[in-house]
Amino acid sequence: MSVHPEQKSLSVPQLAQMRAEGRKLVMSTCYDASFARVLDAAGIELILIGDSLGMVVQGHDSTLPVQVADVVYHTAAVARGARRAVKIADFPFGSDATPEQAHAAAVRFIQAGAAMVKLEGAGHKLEVIRFLVEREIPVCAHLGLTPQSVLRMGGFKVQGREQSAAELLRADALAVAEAGAALLVLEGVPATLAASITAASPIPTIGIGAGAECDGQVLVLHDLLGIDTGHRKPKFVKDFLAEGGSIAGAVRAFAEAVRDGSFPDASHSYS
Ligand code: KIV
Repeated sequence: MSVHPEQKSLSVPQLAQMRAEGRKLVMSTCYDASFARVLDAAGIELILIGDSLGMVVQGHDSTLPVQVADVVYHTAAVARGARRAVKIADFPFGSDATPEQAHAAAVRFIQAGAAMVKLEGAGHKLEVIRFLVEREIPVCAHLGLTPQSVLRMGGFKVQGREQSAAELLRADALAVAEAGAALLVLEGVPATLAASITAASPIPTIGIGAGAECDGQVLVLHDLLGIDTGHRKPKFVKDFLAEGGSIAGAVRAFAEAVRDGSFPDASHSYS
């Protein structure tokens, strides 16, 4: 699909509508205006200004050093490049610890051009989600392998393999939706668990290392373009540049593979 620059922006409610129509949602991270233009032209529905920028743009070993000002800066750049896609700004580590802190950061993200904000975890974050949604700020939740939990997890490890952990994840997925989240990213969980969460979820799920049954898929832009970021590439990463033949072609190939269900296959999923 190619998109005219004057095409209207997608809205958050349209994401639920697309799910109801059985259409897959395609998301990529992005951090600047030029790549945002490429993603928009390829018809990507969702652009995440992820705190992964700490690892793939700033060169850190984790996302923990990222600041609110960094996400504001990159969100504003992306918003100047992409008109149609829903732009989602990611709370950096610690910036969503309390409802008031999260609200102050979220207002800056929205004023920079985001239409939605993303936060990791459930637990005390449920109160944060409720607080933001009551104040008209759409929220995307993120569960499973949450990179900001790297110190507690002792690395970037697949989550939900034990039955008790899987049950907790299922309960958290329902709880974030009940608190008002409109979208749920599931990262690094077994494909069968993600499938059962998706089947029970009242809101669309977007998988990354979570199998093909999610309602959509996300990859870090540098990963789908095969760029060496100096970090180990997880199993779920696929380089689409070879088959796409160009940067724009790679983004289109990723989007097509998500929409026709060929990505991720078993070799890019966890059991
Ligand atoms: O920051 C990010 O890029 C993310 C995605 C990996 C989902 O949270």
